Amino acid sequence: MDTAPATDQRPPHIPADRVYDVDMYALDGIEEGYHEAWKRVQKPGVPDMIWTPRTGGHWIATSGDAVREIYADPSRFSSENIWLPKEAGEKYEMVPTRMDPPEHTPYRKALDKGLSLAQIRHVEDRVRVIATELVAEMAPRGQCEFSADYARVFPVRVFMALADLPMEDVPYLSRLAVQMTRPEGNTPEEQAATLEAGNKGFFAYVDPIIRARRGKSGDDMITIMVNSEVNGQPIDHDKALGLISLLLLAGLDTVVNFLSFMMIYLARHPELVAELRSDELKLKRSAEEMFRRFPVVSEARMVAKDQVFRGVELKHGDMILLPTALHGLDDRENADPFKVDLDRRPISHSTFGGGPHRCAGLHLARMEAIVTLEEWFKLIPEFSLADGAAPIYHSGIVAAVDNVPLVWTPKS
Ligand code: HEM
Repeated sequence: MDTAPATDQRPPHIPADRVYDVDMYALDGIEEGYHEAWKRVQKPGVPDMIWTPRTGGHWIATSGDAVREIYADPSRFSSENIWLPKEAGEKYEMVPTRMDPPEHTPYRKALDKGLSLAQIRHVEDRVRVIATELVAEMAPRGQCEFSADYARVFPVRVFMALADLPMEDVPYLSRLAVQMTRPEGNTPEEQAATLEAGNKGFFAYVDPIIRARRGKSGDDMITIMVNSEVNGQPIDHDKALGLISLLLLAGLDTVVNFLSFMMIYLARHPELVAELRSDELKLKRSAEEMFRRFPVVSEARMVAKDQVFRGVELKHGDMILLPTALHGLDDRENADPFKVDLDRRPISHSTFGGGPHRCAGLHLARMEAIVTLEEWFKLIPEFSLADGAAPIYHSGIVAAVDNVPLVWTPKS
């Protein structure tokens, strides 16, 4: 990360010494790893709040403490726009991510109904069957491309089963998700157009599904949510489009990438795998530390009013990027942060965000992570990355990693 040369592009309230050249969609050093690349931004001496002229110009919160504080306070840091570039955020119509309390609260209740811990416990056996089938198919082969063969398939199959949607729609929906979380384009306007097309694609997809499930009984997530009430009234069709589309987007891209990051680390740390295999309870409790170590989301908040924060003047409408990687991997929050330490307590992170919008799907995400580890360890003996493996990392609103070839000696 360099101090940006183009300091003349900054608005007048941005001090020259806060300007750094950070492109969230093409981080410096990304070839070494997504988390490693974000960590370069947090080197000693970098202030809590820096500004980059990239992606339309925005602030970045660089410490865990600042990330946490901003997530927690919607009165100062609004969700009115959470995407970058800001132009793309204006085209983003998912519900309720762009609402602040109190408007947000009743929609959040509808989401929580479909994703509650009780609801997730109820579906655990079905989720386990999906994991077992996938792992059993690859176990005798002695190798897999984890990202394509498991991570991109498992959470999506789980989600489609819970939402009662046909599996053949998965490639189409996955393409739409990528258009939104890592939108192509050379300018903010081009990126906004890509995101808008993705958003419209989701709406067109869910529209007939919502109409068909309205007023029906059923225990799939979509039926539960479209038949919820908001402020004592059935949820509006327009709002239901945004709510169900968000559910698809959030369920399709996050766990997928988290699992691949986790598995690369495990393949390089057989001693940790041995520790997990030896203690069932430890394995069940390991999810929190895994989420801390492998955050994948970096979205934004919009400054709600002029204010001074951490020594800088913020203007209403300024955008602040919140890289969740810079909380879990901040040494001031967690000692030796790149190490997965199963005995770490307390565990400090913002991997699921914070405040009123804290991830509604975290119980599902946690269960998917644990079930994956349990079923993997049952059927796959000691494993490692294939010789010459070179995972390919991408940064964006949700980070991604491809090309994770794993090898093992099949059990005879
Ligand atoms: C490792 C996996 C996951 C990560 C890291 C993650 C991360 C996040 C983060 C950081 C937010 C906060 C957004 C904001 O404050 O603007 C969020 C919100 C949300 N997540 Fe997740 N998520 C994951 C999995 C899931 C899954 C599996 C689902 C469900 C299908 C889900 C559903 C949601 C929903 C609906 C929201 C919006 C909540 C609201 O606006 O009130 N997430 N997630």
